[in-house]
Amino acid sequence: MDNGNKQIILTGDRPTGRLHLGHYAGSLKRRVELQNSGQFDEIYILIADDQALTDNADNPRKIRDNIVQVVLDYLSVGLDPEKITFCVQSALPALHGLTFYYMNMVTTARLARNPTVKAEIQMRGFEDEGLPVGFFSYPVSQAADITAFDANIVPVGEDQLPMIEQTREIVEKFNRIYGETLVLPKAVIPENECQRRLPGVDGKAKMSKSLGNCIYLSDTPQTVKKQINGKMFTDPAHLRIEDPGHTEGNVVFAYLDAFCTDGHFAEYLPQYSCLEEMKEHYRRGGLGDGTCKKFLIQILEETLRPIRAERARWEADIDAVYDILLKGTMKAREVTNGTLERVQKAMQIDYFADRRIVNEWEKILKAEK
Ligand code: TRP
Repeated sequence: MDNGNKQIILTGDRPTGRLHLGHYAGSLKRRVELQNSGQFDEIYILIADDQALTDNADNPRKIRDNIVQVVLDYLSVGLDPEKITFCVQSALPALHGLTFYYMNMVTTARLARNPTVKAEIQMRGFEDEGLPVGFFSYPVSQAADITAFDANIVPVGEDQLPMIEQTREIVEKFNRIYGETLVLPKAVIPENECQRRLPGVDGKAKMSKSLGNCIYLSDTPQTVKKQINGKMFTDPAHLRIEDPGHTEGNVVFAYLDAFCTDGHFAEYLPQYSCLEEMKEHYRRGGLGDGTCKKFLIQILEETLRPIRAERARWEADIDAVYDILLKGTMKAREVTNGTLERVQKAMQIDYFADRRIVNEWEKILKAEK
């Protein structure tokens, strides 16, 4: 189905903790640009608390507490409640209804092949402990999230591509069986490859709270400095300043790749005109890690300073934050209920939409006589 050529964005996050620079580079920054492009009729951001519960069923408090953190992070990076509908998944019962029907569109074998789910199962130790059905099937519920809003564009981090692929398969199958009903969505990921995969400060592939290798958007300047100066992995072979160094696999350069612009050089390191020149020098030898880290801290502070200030402003008015979420969720409830109705109609299970079925039943009974 096309949605009348409307441009509709849906994306979301699990509220399991505050958002960090990986979220910012991989997704939040892009969302702000999309929001400001003026090219979209509707933008929805879903706080996926139900999805978060699929692997935190024993810790609902964590999810409850982190909803506000995630919304504060959204607002502080410049996502604008006038332009975006923020909503909470658990308060949208239509998503549960859609998930239940979409379960019939997917085989367990297909779910087991989803690479993101596979990796997560391993990471969480579900192989030994037993795999909760809810967790195993969360890609189906994610398909419900996306289709419930008739979204055609889904801006996400690279790790989410398998979810969008799975959603597309569900949409195609549903539309084939029940007629054109659902909009086929498309993923949008960051163009800059370095922004797609920002490593943890320790060089591990992902930032994760339990590894303590994150820089959070709400971290103080002191914490940011400590993470970079104290923990950030560089080139272990680069012992003395004069030694030649590697920029590949060097976390400081991975972050510079993601965040620095030529303008930053003019401002803070005018001896180079661009990152490539700086890298050359590092590889040749003669450029110390301290200088590189100091530059990175200056750049990140430029990004983080206004984010912190905006967060402080909203933190002083949590009532307003609550109202934004409430208003957005109520709007989302209407939209998603509409989609569920459409889906149930396509599936011919809309018995109580009108009394038409009385006629149908009477006809059948008469024909039997
Ligand atoms: N799975 C996403 C994540 O872990 C969160 C999410 C839930 C989402 N529903 C979504 C993302 C719908 C995009 C679209 O980050």
